[in-house]
Amino acid sequence: MFLVTGATGTVGSELLALLAGRNVPVRAMTRDLAKATFPAGVEVATGDFDRPGTLDAALDGVDKVFVLPPGYGPDGPVQERNLVAAAARAGASHLVKLSTSGVTFDATDPISTGHRLGEQVIMDSGLPWTILRPGTFMVYLYGYAPAIAAEHTMYVTQGDPVSAMIHPRDIAAVAAHVLTTPGHDGQAYTLTGGRALSPRDQADIVGQVLGHPIKLVERTPSETRAEFERLGWSGPRLEALLELKRQSTAWDRQVFDTVERLTGQPPLTLHDWVRENIHIFR
Ligand SMILES: NC(=O)c1ccc[n+]([C@@H]2O[C@H](COP(=O)([O-])OP(=O)(O)OC[C@H]3O[C@@H](n4cnc5c(N)ncnc54)[C@H](OP(=O)(O)O)[C@@H]3O)[C@@H](O)[C@H]2O)c1
Repeated sequence: MFLVTGATGTVGSELLALLAGRNVPVRAMTRDLAKATFPAGVEVATGDFDRPGTLDAALDGVDKVFVLPPGYGPDGPVQERNLVAAAARAGASHLVKLSTSGVTFDATDPISTGHRLGEQVIMDSGLPWTILRPGTFMVYLYGYAPAIAAEHTMYVTQGDPVSAMIHPRDIAAVAAHVLTTPGHDGQAYTLTGGRALSPRDQADIVGQVLGHPIKLVERTPSETRAEFERLGWSGPRLEALLELKRQSTAWDRQVFDTVERLTGQPPLTLHDWVRENIHIFR
């Protein structure tokens, strides 16, 4: 039995669909079954990384676990610790943790630091493990979509990284491969898309799919901060995101061939992702 945590989220939902399509026994974990819908044939379980008492039932009979811990607080990688303890009790045989490429590049922002500590918990678990370290997801463009739809304009921040952004289905494809084939124990894989794209490139691709040009406007860092605050971001969560953005200019452009090497398929492109999500830009 495979357990997919984060099963209602961007990567987990893609992974669930891939595993369900392969007719392997798979269980989806969510904190709230009432809000979730899953593909036919998928078992469901409630579970919350922050409430360890909920995890034994979710892990009962599970062999391999996709570990997607969404958050880090002042107490460190509590979610990984709780998951590892329950996985050990359940006798699981493989943990595959979603991390971030910031760890590969020794980034010191709070998000990368949290994942680095979380990776260590998984590595020290005594169970076979694999780490997946993706760079920026293409879903990052969701934030630009309202202004693109309303004003045909993409507002970015001065100095925003050139990014080899990755389609979440490619992360899921690698996860499915790692979960279902041997030879990945003790490996940390850095995952990117196939091409580094500047903000101008990204706007051009959206424009090509929409069929009209997209203007690019650069905001100052303080204008960007104000915009994030307007969207409800604040406190340590906002600072962590801005620091990651700042640091990632140094590495986010690097392209890794891992997706094709492992899955045998070239990475999906930003054209693919925009075509699939065209409704958000109209
Ligand atoms: N976005 C990027 O560019 C990027 C790049 C590299 C790495 N990452 C990493 O990717 C991860 C996010 O992945 P994603 O975008 O696929 O997730 P997402 O779409 O943000 O969804 C979060 C998932 O986590 C689950 N969740 C939230 N709190 C939970 C808890 N306390 N216990 C159990 N499950 C919980 C949610 O499930 P329910 O609400 O159903 O319980 C949901 O399925 C983060 O660790 C992030 O650092 C992101």
